[in-house]
Amino acid sequence: MEAAPSATLRSMMNTKDLGSELPGRHFVLGLTGGVAAYKAAEFCRLLVNAGATVQVVMTGAACRFITPLTMQALSGRPVYVSQWDDRPANNMAHINFSREADAVIVAPASADFIAQLAQGQAGELLALLCLARPLAQVPLLVAPAMNREMWAHPATQRNLRQIAADGAHLLPVAHGGQACGETGDGRMLEAEELLEELIAFMAPKPLLGQQVVVTAGPTYEAIDPVRGITNLSSGKMGFAIARAAREAGACVTLVAGPVHLSTPRGVRRIDVDSALNMHAATIDAVQGASIFIATAAVADWRPVRAAQHKIKKEDGAGSAPQLALAENPDILAGIAHSPRAQAGDLYCVGFAAESENLQANAQAKRARKGVPLLVANIGPATFGRDDNALLLVDDEGVTELPRASKRVLARQLVAEIARRVSGGEA
Ligand code: CTP
Repeated sequence: MEAAPSATLRSMMNTKDLGSELPGRHFVLGLTGGVAAYKAAEFCRLLVNAGATVQVVMTGAACRFITPLTMQALSGRPVYVSQWDDRPANNMAHINFSREADAVIVAPASADFIAQLAQGQAGELLALLCLARPLAQVPLLVAPAMNREMWAHPATQRNLRQIAADGAHLLPVAHGGQACGETGDGRMLEAEELLEELIAFMAPKPLLGQQVVVTAGPTYEAIDPVRGITNLSSGKMGFAIARAAREAGACVTLVAGPVHLSTPRGVRRIDVDSALNMHAATIDAVQGASIFIATAAVADWRPVRAAQHKIKKEDGAGSAPQLALAENPDILAGIAHSPRAQAGDLYCVGFAAESENLQANAQAKRARKGVPLLVANIGPATFGRDDNALLLVDDEGVTELPRASKRVLARQLVAEIARRVSGGEA
């Protein structure tokens, strides 16, 4: 009979996550002239959905590509174009907007606008407010968008170096087909990518300078060319942790079993299938790393020998093949007992997927694996879902992270790890 969940477990399973990605943040979103302006409309919508407020400022050229009306409808605020607009009581939109924003983000930023920034020109409201913004308090993010030849031109590259030296944060450009029909560098990032970059930029950086390795997902142990042993892990928690660690400033390597998830931006991903492959890739990846987080649901056993060809049913025999199994190496325990981990140079975090007695099992597993921190969750209540609840077990005792989205939990867990790694200063 299944035991009734404890009060702790019940609260972990019921609490609703009401968080969003950029709650209470305020941005100036600047649009300049370029076909990519259509992506800015979607980006604005994503910002608002993420809990931010957005003041849109457009250049005259931007208004030739997309109307202020569209941006007003999406941002829920009047759009400004001219520095002579007398709607603000003090008639100083460039001062007001640049003082109240958490950041100014120009997307798309045309070659011409980047040249204006490089020279400190202030002929239109958007350039004027970029120049007038308090440099130390209000960051400027620039998402370039232009034809590949314009992008590669020495003048553009010189201007980009100049505005970066002047304190602008340059977002990368994408490679691909361009509106002009050519293919190359200079495409503006997609709206979702802009949002991910902005979230990462705004996040606190308690893991700056750290090298983090995360394992995620299930492993797949082949029985024959078409069948194998695997489990229900989706990899979502590990991917969310990799993403959160990157947001927190770490350089992240993600060793991923077979999952259908896109790689978080800025994260190096190594795809593996079997436990043995994950073991080899992880041992390699943790050389020089400072933090190792093992979220993967590694198969404990593998068939001793995978059949070369599909195993056929013996007609009418009614018998099933006998699978001889061998134990897989314990990746986490092996690394946690390595000299670097024992010397305190590699901080190891284990996960425990349990189906009952969460705390007791977690404490026992922490001792068995030899890790300073073990994170326990209920396997059936998390596999494949977008939310989870965690129980952190370490020397300090037990810390509960109540049910929330895996993204939110991943950020909380990364903050907990950063605090422990830095000795409580994070
Ligand atoms: N782990 C690992 N290599 C393995 C098995 C597990 O690195 N061969 C890691 C997991 O990534 C996780 C932790 O060890 O961080 C615990 O995994 P879990 O499956 O909960 O525990 P097991 O060690 O397999 O023990 P059991 O199945 O008996 O609960």
